[in-house]
Amino acid sequence: MRISLIDGSFIIAGLLFILALAGLSKHETSRRGNILGAIGMALALVFTILGTVLGTYDLVESSPGQPVLELIKAAAPSWAIVAIVVAMALGAAIGFFRALRVEMTGMPELIALFHSFVGLAAVLVGWTAYYSSVASGHFDPLHSGELFVGVFIGAVTFTGSIIAYLKLAAKIKSAPLTLPHHNLINLAALAAFVALTVVFVLNPEGTLGFILLSAMTVIALFLGLHLVASIGGGDMPVVVSMLNSYSGWAAAAAGFTLDNDLLIITGALVGSSGAYLSFIMCKAMNRSFISVIAGGFGSDGTVVGEEKDYGEHREITAAEAADLLVNASSVVITPGYGMAVAQAQSAVADMTSKLRAKGVNVRFGIHPVAGRLPGHMNVLLAEAKVPYDIVLEMDEINDDLQDTDVVLVIGANDTVNPAANEDPHSPIAGMPVLEVWKASQVIVFKRSMATGYAGVQNPLFFKENAAMLFGDAKERVEDIIHSF
Ligand code: TAP
Repeated sequence: MRISLIDGSFIIAGLLFILALAGLSKHETSRRGNILGAIGMALALVFTILGTVLGTYDLVESSPGQPVLELIKAAAPSWAIVAIVVAMALGAAIGFFRALRVEMTGMPELIALFHSFVGLAAVLVGWTAYYSSVASGHFDPLHSGELFVGVFIGAVTFTGSIIAYLKLAAKIKSAPLTLPHHNLINLAALAAFVALTVVFVLNPEGTLGFILLSAMTVIALFLGLHLVASIGGGDMPVVVSMLNSYSGWAAAAAGFTLDNDLLIITGALVGSSGAYLSFIMCKAMNRSFISVIAGGFGSDGTVVGEEKDYGEHREITAAEAADLLVNASSVVITPGYGMAVAQAQSAVADMTSKLRAKGVNVRFGIHPVAGRLPGHMNVLLAEAKVPYDIVLEMDEINDDLQDTDVVLVIGANDTVNPAANEDPHSPIAGMPVLEVWKASQVIVFKRSMATGYAGVQNPLFFKENAAMLFGDAKERVEDIIHSF
């Protein structure tokens, strides 16, 4: 009875996770997808604990009709259970309060930090499995291989995610670390891992086994650190989704080690969807996946293009911008990270509905890597209740920009930078961008002439049809609304 109940719940949880992923792929169904995922996770947690409780007391043979609660009552109290409950309560409390307090702009670094926990958990699970094999004196080659690979993926994910967290939170420079022969270093680390795996599977016991596992852990910790440290600012979106994928594979590896089917299914779902997301990100940024993983793209931290004389920029007031907007027949808004910083989405939604009421055709153009998180802008606009049907992807809007009267660039920079198309030496060269400069008039909302995330100067700001509306994006949008 116990086996079927727990296995059945795992199958249902797995199905709920699949439905959650399907739901999350569209705006309209994303809320439902999220709820289904949360229900699946609650189910998984409850039945994993139940399995642990019953397993601890070996009540497998209990009578089939015995209610589950009675079994738990019979099992309690136990220090193992108390430890699990206390650890879970502590973890849940920290996660709950951290998530409550986090600003939307701090989400990417929080996610990177969570990925690092998954990596660390996989390392600890692998090492614990190693010690239980040492204690029992029984090493199965398949099991040894699983735990070795699990520790490797976990350790790479752990340090990689910590570096990603530090870069995204601007606690270290986002400039890439370019050690001499850095691709060779990565290759050597991978080759060492393969060689150590073979030797460990053949000799897992004694001091040699311990040394092999320790050496590989150190190499993997270094590899994770080096891989992410070598990637420049502009390519961080790919790194975030790549680490997401790694954390999934780390969880799946832990699932194999623990013989937990649900963890294997969940890890594989996260791993494969993260890999696909990385692929989409690479396509969006016109990068080769292998090159990004190998490091070396992106800004070196210096402001590229600042030396170049682009001429003078022009400024515009909120009242003048309002005038242009009410007299336009088509307006496109391209939001970026600055809209998230200013929390301007509700004001932008308000301005949009007022302009639509005046008969202006207002649409949004979303770059796939705008903001700091895949789908960042879509989430903010959905939260502000902007209708989904006027929110278009870059590929859907780019051809229409030349026939647009006014484009409002609200806190976007790299994603509207013409240097990506015009300057082959730019670190963002080749990255598809929103071609806003093709519109009749462009108004750029930002606080200064500072560069965007990739540290690249933006020639758009100096074009004849562009004007700067300086200040906090939310305040300036509210000024425009007051001027209507
Ligand atoms: P960015 O290039 O980051 O530029 C944002 C601009 O917003 C800045 O130039 C800043 O200029 C302005 N800004 C900041 N606070 C503001 C405020 N309160 N009011 C008005 N303006 C404000 O933005 P983007 O175009 O969205 O590009 C995203 C960049 O992040 C890309 O390089 C992308 O590769 C990278 N990235 C993306 C992700 C994902 S997954 N989306 C993850 C990591 C990195 P001022 O300081 O002058 O105001």
